Amino acid sequence: MLSILCDAWGVALPPEPGIPPFVQTLRWGFRPIAFLQDCRRRFGDSFSVRFAGFERPMVLISDPEAIKALYREPTHGLPPGRNIVLEPIVGSKSLLIQQGAEHLSRRRLMLPPFHGERMRSYEEAMNEIVEAEIDTWPLHEEFPIHSRMQAMTLEVILRVVFGVSSGPRLERLRETLGSVLDETASSTGRQVLGLILARFGGPGPFAHFEEQLREVDELLFAEIAEHRERPDLAERKDILSMLMTAEFEDGTRMEDQELRDQLMTLLLAGHETTATALAWTFDLLLRHPAELGRLRDSLAAGDEDYLRATITESLRLRPVIPLAGRRLSKDLVADGMTLPAGTDVTPAIWLTHTREDLYPEPFAFRPERFLEEGPDTYAWIPFGGSVRRCIGATFAEFEMRVVLREVLTRCELHKASPEPERPGRRNITFSPKAGTPVVLASREPARERPAEPVTV
Ligand code: HEM
Repeated sequence: MLSILCDAWGVALPPEPGIPPFVQTLRWGFRPIAFLQDCRRRFGDSFSVRFAGFERPMVLISDPEAIKALYREPTHGLPPGRNIVLEPIVGSKSLLIQQGAEHLSRRRLMLPPFHGERMRSYEEAMNEIVEAEIDTWPLHEEFPIHSRMQAMTLEVILRVVFGVSSGPRLERLRETLGSVLDETASSTGRQVLGLILARFGGPGPFAHFEEQLREVDELLFAEIAEHRERPDLAERKDILSMLMTAEFEDGTRMEDQELRDQLMTLLLAGHETTATALAWTFDLLLRHPAELGRLRDSLAAGDEDYLRATITESLRLRPVIPLAGRRLSKDLVADGMTLPAGTDVTPAIWLTHTREDLYPEPFAFRPERFLEEGPDTYAWIPFGGSVRRCIGATFAEFEMRVVLREVLTRCELHKASPEPERPGRRNITFSPKAGTPVVLASREPARERPAEPVTV
């Protein structure tokens, strides 16, 4: 049902909350779930939201049929904002901001290292990283597991994606990228804002951040140059090596500047997201002893079906990225309405994932629901969809399996507080507000895994 007329733009869209854009933005920023629930209660499956600073409203949809209609059209573009926020960091060639034929040719080139059969070649490095990380955790003391997951997923990107294995460059990248990532993920994203201002000739109080980015670039170009010198480049298993040897359809390869842009893209898209998904999974598991016990029993028996179902359920209940929208290239007929070309439309991922008609007892954590059957393509969309679906989805799920398997086999962890974590916004993610504090009660040595399940 179309019930408002957008005066600035002149087209009819689904209803919107009758509050100023500034207030809608604040509600979205500080209490996103309450805001979404409120809109669902008032308007149903589709509604419009106005974010401050954006010329047009964003239409949020949650019916899988409508999402299918949106995602099945490959020519839709990106919603506004992504290039302004991301380009200063990921660069103009980034897969995240390219569109049309340029986007598709890059996507084709970048997909092979993320195919399922490649995952086994990353497993050993991932296992080593998790084992070493677990050994640093303090015993009997509270610590936030979210930041430990961030350290781990950064290390995975550095070693498995960038192919940096040791030495001073690894140290410096760890340090500089760590602080760049902290700044980009801060709830205010103040440094990013500073960079944008600086690009438009604004004041430069954020020169420090630009300085850090320059240092990161130097390190990345040095790594790319060193990779080029390697006689075994074509056989190497890291993703940078594969990107360096892969060819576009016209036989050309990525130039150094583009390689740098895609490395920053994979870092930005793959690090915080996976760490946050892991933190949410721990928050859920450690508050659900029956499900945790079943998972540990199944792992001890060498069965990973319940582990996969647990990850699927965690990404359903706690999707890390709330919106994955498009600007329509042509009219969209969906949910009984026709939205004209030019409209910005996005699935409201959390609303789709908590529909009672799709998921009985939608707010309960029940991995069992995915044991018999995997999720439906358009009813489970934590990785978005179609030609822009996350290229790291298989990689992220694989990494999550490695981490959960190792941590749950070796560690007896408790949540520091029995309360569920509340979602907060960290840049574009829904993230556990308190960082999921946990206490490590005991730890088995690495590799000597107990034959019997360890109880938590
Ligand atoms: C649990 C972890 C992750 C989640 C929840 C996630 C989620 C998403 C979402 C929602 C999108 C947008 C999709 C769309 O617009 O339809 C996306 C895109 C993307 N993701 Fe992920 N992601 C995760 C991990 C990763 C990893 C590990 C990598 C790579 C190392 C990665 C690389 C990318 C890239 C390059 C894109 C852009 C794809 C394109 O525009 O063609 N992501 N991701």
